[in-house]
Amino acid sequence: MSEKLVRGRLLSFHAKPQARDDDSAYRYIEDGALLVRNGTIAAMGSFDEVKAKAAKDAPIDDHRGKLILPGFIDPHIHFPQMQVLASYAGSLLEWLNTYTFVEEQRFGDAAHAARIADHLMDELIRNGTTTASAFCSVHPGSVDAYFSAASHRNMLMLGGKVMMDREAPDALTDTPQSSYDDTKAGIEKWHGLGRNYYVITPRFAITSTPEQLEVAGALAKEFPDLHIQTHLNENKNEIAFTNELYPDAGDYFGIYEKYGLVGEKSLFGHCIHMSDRERDAMFDSRSVAVFCPTSNMFIGSGHFDWQNMEGVQNQGRIGLATDIGGGTSISMLRTMDEGYKVLQLQGQRLPPLVSFYQATLGNAEALSLQDRIGTLDEGSDADFIVLDAAATPVMKLRMETVFDLEQELFMLQTMGDDRAIVETYVAGEALKSKLSG
Ligand code: GUN
Ligand code: ZN
Repeated sequence: MSEKLVRGRLLSFHAKPQARDDDSAYRYIEDGALLVRNGTIAAMGSFDEVKAKAAKDAPIDDHRGKLILPGFIDPHIHFPQMQVLASYAGSLLEWLNTYTFVEEQRFGDAAHAARIADHLMDELIRNGTTTASAFCSVHPGSVDAYFSAASHRNMLMLGGKVMMDREAPDALTDTPQSSYDDTKAGIEKWHGLGRNYYVITPRFAITSTPEQLEVAGALAKEFPDLHIQTHLNENKNEIAFTNELYPDAGDYFGIYEKYGLVGEKSLFGHCIHMSDRERDAMFDSRSVAVFCPTSNMFIGSGHFDWQNMEGVQNQGRIGLATDIGGGTSISMLRTMDEGYKVLQLQGQRLPPLVSFYQATLGNAEALSLQDRIGTLDEGSDADFIVLDAAATPVMKLRMETVFDLEQELFMLQTMGDDRAIVETYVAGEALKSKLSG
């Protein structure tokens, strides 16, 4: 039995904060500790309390003074887009055709896919993200590379091959039948192996024929426990083209409804240009809307209307994600900061307690995984991070005038990046300090 104590200032949410200073939504312990036993959190509490529960010779990782939070969760990234980051383009469809659909073709090469998967996992760890849900490329081998790299690090990761059978280069298209066969084989190979979750992944309605969306719906019926991920209402030209391709669906969300792709396990990236009907249907189906602020700003797609989605939020159905490589940073701190700004521009607010809740427990709830990840509660998987709000000279200077937890969190999200992540624990193992470079 392996046991260790990790000492620091513990912060863990158990609900969405209802106000800027809602201290009933979280537990904060100034001199706290976690007892980690065989990859799970066996106890959480004050250092003295938890030490009394540990074996006498249990080692102590001493992070006194630093914040310990559950690992960040990123519910929408694109694994094959690590080298698409920072590609100059005018709009979504131009960006996809000019860069993304070119780059993703390289993932037919197993060695390339393996190399980028290693980089992706290492960057996630460097930035304190312990779980992500990824779109892989159309190639089943990209899923193998992705889950192999995740398994190697014992990370809890979700992902699946994109199903796409039109409106893309030939080298990136499958067929309804091959996408069914490859997805099913991927599920059988990876889902439930170690900490892996396979996700049924029709890329978006533009790149899927009605026949392929039917196949995706059949897979969802055959494997009702699985997540589904796709894109929705990101960009006005995308929406117009989608409506041309599916003239009878009524609206964009209606397409996914028609093919049985909405529900509690369905994750919809972006959701920017939502009609009231789509918003209400999303609420009724308990589907998840995923806010990707750095991507929405970078691609110029528009501003996610946080307030308009309040109902969806209040049932724990909102995600906050990077959308690498439309997004510009893999850091959830940078993502929270941009999320705050997107709301500011609309006269809305994102208090730091809410953004830290969202990046941890909120995203775990969006993935229906709150019993395993997203908190420091006893029984949770031991995925957690250590943060230093004085990580850089200017942050250290600013910390001289920070006097409470809320200010510290806000400063961390506004000024912090990977340098503020002191350590990343995955299933109880400290991985960040083992990274090279
Ligand atoms: N819509 C369909 N594919 C993509 C993608 O790769 N990135 C973004 N941002 N939107 C998409
Ligand atoms: Zn995306």
